[in-house]
Amino acid sequence: MKLSQTEPKKGTNKMGNPAENEKEIAVKTGALYAYIWDQFNRIQWTQFSDDHFMKWSPLPDSNIFKEKIVLDAGCGSGRACRSMLFQGAKKVVGIDMGKGCISNTNERNKDFSGRLEVKLASVLDVPYPDNTFDIVHCDEVLHHTTNPKKGFSELVRVLKPGGKIIIAVYGRGGFMNFAIYSARLFRRLIPLKWTFYLCKLISKNPVVWYSILDCMYVPIRENYYEHEIRRWFEDYNFDNIIRMDSAWGPYAYGRWMKGDGYIKFIADKRSN
Ligand SMILES: C[S@@+](CC[C@H](N)C(=O)[O-])C[C@H]1O[C@@H](n2cnc3c(N)ncnc32)[C@H](O)[C@@H]1O
Repeated sequence: MKLSQTEPKKGTNKMGNPAENEKEIAVKTGALYAYIWDQFNRIQWTQFSDDHFMKWSPLPDSNIFKEKIVLDAGCGSGRACRSMLFQGAKKVVGIDMGKGCISNTNERNKDFSGRLEVKLASVLDVPYPDNTFDIVHCDEVLHHTTNPKKGFSELVRVLKPGGKIIIAVYGRGGFMNFAIYSARLFRRLIPLKWTFYLCKLISKNPVVWYSILDCMYVPIRENYYEHEIRRWFEDYNFDNIIRMDSAWGPYAYGRWMKGDGYIKFIADKRSN
């Protein structure tokens, strides 16, 4: 894949067909992430995947995936799929709009292929009937889409009554966000390949490259206050709405640095 394919084009189809604009942005976003994950070798990626649920953002109960049918919406390289399969999920379905993300997820989870299904599809139009999944997981995806609330409603639609949803989005405020948005001002001036070259000079760690390229070049990067996301759940009558702690939460670095931090919620869809 050429690096230039990952760069958002100027004057994106904003005045044209909204569905095409939605798709174009999702495909560009997917191409950027696929490119980044292609840089991780097997050991680096496995560490990245394990760290996710075990260290950075642990789930309250590691047994919740056992025997469950799970949707990982915006599965990326399949790191969460892997953790959920490890934890005994009966089946994990991953969807993503990046072709390279689909192949990353399949390739990196070959050993679990019997319990994994991966599809090129959008979180804004999930190709499954209502009430299909026991658990829906969507980590760092909605805030990169053209319509996060529509995405949320799609995830609620495919979740069974009584099922659990886990959603993570970037929080608003703090010095880090200020720095990221300042850096994003340069993304049209500095081609991605130059930044990538610089990243390789300053660090050998692909997690550092990931963080810089992701923050600077992803076409859409929305941020939220915790109360806004809590409201999404309340509007759909969810029960047991819990904000989960994480290595990136406001608790770890202070509000001045990370604002509302990495906002990850778990909640139960009301069964009626
Ligand atoms: C920051 S990455 C997170 C990936 C994964 N959830 C993880 O935690 O490793 C964002 C992912 O969302 C995907 N994405 C963006 N817009 C999407 C959409 N409309 N539908 C499905 N996936 C989308 C991107 O392709 C990318 O893989």
